[in-house]
Amino acid sequence: MDQKSAMLADEECSTSGRLSLVVPTYNERANITGLVAAVSRVLEGLDWEIIVVDDDSPDRTFEEVRRMAVQDHRVRCLRRVGRRGLSSAVIEGALAASGEFIGVMDADFQHDERILGVMYRKLCDTEADVAVATRYDGQGGVGDWNAGRQAMSRLATWVSRLVVGGRTTDPMSGFFMFRRDLLDDVVYDLSAQGYKILLDILASARRPLRVEEVPFVFRVRTEGESKISAMVIAEYATLMIEKLSHGFVPGRFVLFCMVGSLGILVHMIVLWASRAAGVGFEEGQLMATFIAMLFNFGLNNEVTYRRWRLSGTAIYGGVVAFCAVCSIGALANVSVAELALTELGSWPLAGLSGALIGGVINFSIADNVVWQVARRRGRASSLQLQRMQPNAYRPEGLRG
Ligand code: GDD
Ligand code: MN
Repeated sequence: MDQKSAMLADEECSTSGRLSLVVPTYNERANITGLVAAVSRVLEGLDWEIIVVDDDSPDRTFEEVRRMAVQDHRVRCLRRVGRRGLSSAVIEGALAASGEFIGVMDADFQHDERILGVMYRKLCDTEADVAVATRYDGQGGVGDWNAGRQAMSRLATWVSRLVVGGRTTDPMSGFFMFRRDLLDDVVYDLSAQGYKILLDILASARRPLRVEEVPFVFRVRTEGESKISAMVIAEYATLMIEKLSHGFVPGRFVLFCMVGSLGILVHMIVLWASRAAGVGFEEGQLMATFIAMLFNFGLNNEVTYRRWRLSGTAIYGGVVAFCAVCSIGALANVSVAELALTELGSWPLAGLSGALIGGVINFSIADNVVWQVARRRGRASSLQLQRMQPNAYRPEGLRG
């Protein structure tokens, strides 16, 4: 028994309860066995379980986990098929947990498992709801990140503090622990998108939370690679906008607009190419409009509405509906722009207001028509769940 675990076993917590550690994985085959071994060493003497949530990793991380689970029933493997996402993996793992306390940590050894005991005791010994492992307080640090990544992390941390206030120095931390009843409070309000699950939990809580912090130094990843991507960053930006506007500007709307801007680019490229090929302006414009619409539909289906993605034959209906919706938006766009031009006399302003109104109209109809069936299905299953457990969740927390 090393020093840390001896400390854990000796020091009686004022209350104690099972600790469920949720570890999301994607291609962590090289890390997961060592991580589980390291965690079980530091948690010796405690009642714990570890739930690895693997999104059907191509390197078959789940096989390693299952192998360990056969040997030790405290290790569990939750394999998700056909889905991806750090936040949603963590939420599902936490929902499957049996502990009174739930911890979240990465599988790649960047989070120092030796402070798990300290975090656990913070929750046991105090009335704290959340214990955050922070890189930005006390002895904490980011290790040897390059200047670019450090700047990015600082910026993201600063923006997220606008959302959660001064409750923690590191709202972007992926390393934290909380009481299980907090999850039951917020589960219907979580956006389940992107990487920032702690931020999401803190921002969704409806009561003041007591947050304790434990500093740690973020380690360098030695095996495997980071899964952070442009998509993850875009999702983060939309989450921030949604939370800062208190849900008034849905994250889906922001993504929809981003896709729309790319659509304009596609439109201009096609128009330019058809002109270069000697096609007349009107034919070129028509072709460009059509291709840009197909592009927008496809990208929205893959990105904005990924959770409710249309597939198979539903795609054909979706394309037709989307094109019809876009013509309504285009009509509104042109009419508003004309009106604005006569009223304001400035063509850039007129163009912008037309595009904005067109975008809002496109979004509100497409959101309610094109992807509505799939979204309603998701909502219906949540409602059903709620009916089965009427006291466990607050109905007003349900999101569409
Ligand atoms: N199940 C599942 N599904 N797990 C995933 C997915 C996914 O789509 N994407 C990543 N993971 C797992 C990884 O396998 C790893 O165990 C953990 O989530 C963190 O992923 P990394 O890709 O290593 O993230 P990072 O190191 O760039 O970011 C970390 O530090 C950030 C702070 O700068 C994470 O802890 C972030 O949450 C944290 O904000
Ligand atoms: Mn990592």
